[in-house]
Amino acid sequence: MTTATLRGSDRVLHVVWQDGKSADFPFLWLRDNCPTGFHPETKERQFDLTGIPLDLAISDVSVDDGAIVLTWDGETHVSRYDPAWLYDHRPGIGLIDPARVEPIHWRGDFSPARLPRATAGDLMASEAALLEFLIDAKKTGLAIVDGMADDKNAGIEMARRIGFLRETNFGTTFEVMSKPNPNNLAYTSDALPLHTDLANQELPPGFQFLHCLANEAAGGGSTFCDGFAIAADLQSEDPEAFRLLSETPVPFRFHDEDYDIRRHHMVIDLDPFGNLQELHFNAHLAGIFDLPADKMEPYYRAYRKIMEMTRSDTYVMTTRLLGGEMVIFDNRRVLHGRAAFDPNTGFRHLRGCYVDRGEFDSRIRVLSRTKG
Ligand code: OGA
Ligand code: ZN
Repeated sequence: MTTATLRGSDRVLHVVWQDGKSADFPFLWLRDNCPTGFHPETKERQFDLTGIPLDLAISDVSVDDGAIVLTWDGETHVSRYDPAWLYDHRPGIGLIDPARVEPIHWRGDFSPARLPRATAGDLMASEAALLEFLIDAKKTGLAIVDGMADDKNAGIEMARRIGFLRETNFGTTFEVMSKPNPNNLAYTSDALPLHTDLANQELPPGFQFLHCLANEAAGGGSTFCDGFAIAADLQSEDPEAFRLLSETPVPFRFHDEDYDIRRHHMVIDLDPFGNLQELHFNAHLAGIFDLPADKMEPYYRAYRKIMEMTRSDTYVMTTRLLGGEMVIFDNRRVLHGRAAFDPNTGFRHLRGCYVDRGEFDSRIRVLSRTKG
């Protein structure tokens, strides 16, 4: 049986559940999260915190029909809480998130054959298959879909099954092929060293989808590396370089006739909890460094060090996309590149689009609901 007792001096409700776990719920938290304070349909909070005093008190607690019932001192309001709901929201622990998938770091010895892989037809037909694939793709940050229809829109349809597409200055979709008057090195036949796309944006796109429609030219092999593995190794091997790369904002810029999109970022970005959040690494879009002169040389040392790591066999996985395959990767974690190709020897065409991390995660959560 669940028990609930007041600890008035600490202004907390102490709850012990049947499994022996216990937690303290501060009175303010309980009042702020009273179920009646939420709109019954939209589930948004309507309760106004400024309408209660900070030192509010509870005059009575009871357990009624399985619910914990609190009577607030000086108010007519009574709050009822489901103990299971309280259990799921324990302070300091919070709600379990099905989209919180621990990354599995990989390095150059990770064979492309071990990448998460699924067939387009299965992913389009089965929500269970899609959920499993999305979770696997989040673990490695890189996955392959094969059996894609030889149709320019097949990649977009698959991406839309996951979330809405992120539009950028290159469009909602982009054609990666050698073209006249390119405004992006990807639209030449040159080699592309490992990079993250659009590091110059306020929020660089999350998951990138590259559907290989043709890869018949000589050259044009793909390279990938796990930026999280590189950052983790750098942190232990060269903490000073890690510190500089994770604390120093540097400029990134894209500019052509129509746009001038600039943003400072850390090359290695940590989230508010100190976990690796993302990398911004794109030598083509790196702006002109604007650090104070005396900070420049130490920064260049650190920046060059991570650049060398992105060139090293220790980290780089090489593969070759085949027509009918689509690669999906977390553009804010996994760096991608390609070898130069000779457009005179055959056609090479990838069609790309992006779905941001937020939509990708939402899809995982919603698909997880039906799993029961
Ligand atoms: C890109 C890119 C890789 C390739 O379009 O951003 O990096 O294989 N393309 O052409
Ligand atoms: Zn790219």
